[in-house]
Amino acid sequence: MNLHDARRRRRLSWEQAKRDLGYRDGDPLNLGRLCADRHVDEGRGERVALIHEDHEGQVRRYTFRDLMELSNGWARFLSDQASVCQLDRVCLFLDRTPELYAAFLGILKTGAIAEPLFPVFGEDALTARMLDSGAAAVITSRRHLGKLRRTRSRLPDLRTVVVVDAEPGGQGLRQGEMAFRMEDHRDARFSAAATHAESPSVLHYTSGTTGAPKGALHVHGSVFAQYLTSKVVLDIRDDDVYWCTADPGWVTGTSYGIIGPWSLGATQVVLDGGFSSERWYGTIERHRVSVWYTAPTAIRMLMKDGLDPVRRRDLSSLRHACSVGEPLNPEAVRWGREAFGLWFHDTFWQTETGAIVVTNLPGMPVKPGSMGRPFPAVEAAIVEPGTGVPIAEAGRVGLLAIRPPWPSLMRAYWNNTAAYYGKFLNGWYVSGDRASVDDDGYFWFCGRDDDVINTAGHLVGPFEVESALLEHPAVAESAAIGKPDPVSLEVVKAFVALRPGFEASEELELDIMNFVRKRLSPLAMPQEIAFVDRLPKTGSGKILRRMLRARELGQSAGDLSTMDGG
Ligand code: WT7
Repeated sequence: MNLHDARRRRRLSWEQAKRDLGYRDGDPLNLGRLCADRHVDEGRGERVALIHEDHEGQVRRYTFRDLMELSNGWARFLSDQASVCQLDRVCLFLDRTPELYAAFLGILKTGAIAEPLFPVFGEDALTARMLDSGAAAVITSRRHLGKLRRTRSRLPDLRTVVVVDAEPGGQGLRQGEMAFRMEDHRDARFSAAATHAESPSVLHYTSGTTGAPKGALHVHGSVFAQYLTSKVVLDIRDDDVYWCTADPGWVTGTSYGIIGPWSLGATQVVLDGGFSSERWYGTIERHRVSVWYTAPTAIRMLMKDGLDPVRRRDLSSLRHACSVGEPLNPEAVRWGREAFGLWFHDTFWQTETGAIVVTNLPGMPVKPGSMGRPFPAVEAAIVEPGTGVPIAEAGRVGLLAIRPPWPSLMRAYWNNTAAYYGKFLNGWYVSGDRASVDDDGYFWFCGRDDDVINTAGHLVGPFEVESALLEHPAVAESAAIGKPDPVSLEVVKAFVALRPGFEASEELELDIMNFVRKRLSPLAMPQEIAFVDRLPKTGSGKILRRMLRARELGQSAGDLSTMDGG
């Protein structure tokens, strides 16, 4: 029977996830235990959980028993020696090493909140997120320690920096820094904190149009959604080898790079290291990857390298492929058919939704360019901006909205109640994306309803870029917009008015670009800077990014009167 069959759709509910996981309402629930210890308890301890390949190509395998012992070691160390308490925010600032994955589960076992950070973040990006959350500890490696040291004086709540690869005896470490070598601290037993479905678990920062990035807070019970969607959408089965290409600094890398697959007891591959089509195809071939979850920018990068590298490999293990993060263009879907004989199944969700909400299910006919239909346990609609009233008419564009509650909906924006409540309207959670729905109930993405830039699937807040630009001594005023890009969807373009005494030049452009790269990240770095005399503004002084963007696209800027103060 096809999954999009109406009866089956109705029968799929979050209750099924609870039943599968042996959970009854009110039971203690701890994600760290559920993703590791439970498999040992149920006789799956010797199954491979993680096939890890480092940047030199060295492969290591970890069973669920290994994961249990290593995360226990982390939990004991964090609570006994690093004085981490329940609900403390503990940051992960690591490359995709095995330590990152075990520590994530270990943090959750202590009842603290895991806050993953992108290892490419520079000092300003780090400071904004760690300061807002009041992080008590951060786990890092020597490679990233320098950046953290430069933020320390600005982070009064930060008590401990844990270094996973310090010299023996912790030589060279400073006060407040501790060495912890994971492999020396395996522990067969740790009694995990008695967290519940509503206990906070993970804090992911995401960018908005205005203000600093916002921390979306999730709870242990999010797993009901991550489990069921991993099973039904990603179609991960017992004998699969699953590969999610996302970094856990991004919610895809935790919801579907840790929690989803390991709640199922699945074997997954982690590749630490940058992109190259040779490496990626080699990974699929070497580890016999059968289920693959990736992003449109990556697919377009593979497309650029053509079919030859595909033909030189045996990729016959691939059975199912999914995509997330940006619009998946029809050409990419068609190319996937040609290259791998597979449909890339587009999935839509957000940091805030915690799990896939609109999707193409396996077996469902794919309409290239459409994001698919609401996940069977989810109610989604297109609503009128301003009122939140659902639009019945097929093809009319409105805002994509989801009916609360569902298990993985964020429970708060950290320290920002107003912004949290601002996401709900007329009984709907409003995503902030514009979309329409067709007669068959398929959803079509149109664009974001705000100024946030989506570069290679990563959201970059224009405000954060503009703030970094303003710190440069030559910059008087700045605006950042997304400029369309054939591979990355958008790249950051900055408009800069210089202070008196500074002259526009290529050197200055490069200097400003590097300045932003170091402060924020390579993703947030403007790929292009336009030097202008002044920036277009509303009467109240707000920069009209949309006008700049419309000019960039060669369009008319439309009716700008609504933007003043609105
Ligand atoms: C934003 C959310 C998706 C989880 C990781 C990113 C865009 C996401 C799609 C898609 C078109 C998409 C939206 C959304 N987006 N999936 N399938 N088609 N756009 O989470 O960083 O919070 O980004 O990514 O604009 O709001 P995020």
